[in-house]
Amino acid sequence: MEDWQVPLMRAMAAFVAESSGDVLEIGFGRGVAAELIQQHGVRSHTIVEPHPVSIERHFKPWQARHSGNAIRLIEGRWEDVTNCLGIYDAVLFHAYPLNEEDFIRHIVDSIVYAEHAMPEMASRLRPGGVFTYLSTEVDSLSRRHQRLLFRHFSSITTSILPLAVPPDTADTWWAPSMVTVKAVK
Ligand SMILES: C[S@@+](CC[C@H](N)C(=O)[O-])C[C@H]1O[C@@H](n2cnc3c(N)ncnc32)[C@H](O)[C@@H]1O
Repeated sequence: MEDWQVPLMRAMAAFVAESSGDVLEIGFGRGVAAELIQQHGVRSHTIVEPHPVSIERHFKPWQARHSGNAIRLIEGRWEDVTNCLGIYDAVLFHAYPLNEEDFIRHIVDSIVYAEHAMPEMASRLRPGGVFTYLSTEVDSLSRRHQRLLFRHFSSITTSILPLAVPPDTADTWWAPSMVTVKAVK
């Protein structure tokens, strides 16, 4: 994840920390969102991450810096560890496809990457719980994107977040903004 995404992480971390409750984070990466969530203060923070480099290089030193806090790592892809998941007040979903088949299925042929995770993530939320993810929408949610959300959540709040994407980005985003989404069960 490149630094231009940090404002998105800040917005998403604020959504999931609003309740100060039990937070599930899918995809640790280099721990930017996780650090922001901890700065807000939450009752518990469960992280699902499969990548050994993310776990060794980023998660372990980060956890050591927060050793007094209720942080739990579940190693693996969320799809493979659903039996280890509990019920949460908020879910931050920020994974990406790990192979070409997943890219085609969940990005090319989907409304948004998080689509395939929404049924499971919504089922992991208490009533009133919050779900957030990368919308990959520039300045408004398409009607089909809104319909997708309303299949799983009772209300949504959206904002346009300005972004400074550098011209030499290696990420697949180019627009000067992205819509943030806070979906409530
Ligand atoms: C874009 S990074 C997350 C960045 C993170 N939000 C941060 O602030 O640094 C995506 C992470 O999701 C992880 N990931 C990919 N597929 C996953 C899956 N199916 N379940 C859980 N994590 C996954 C990747 O290994 C990677 O660490």
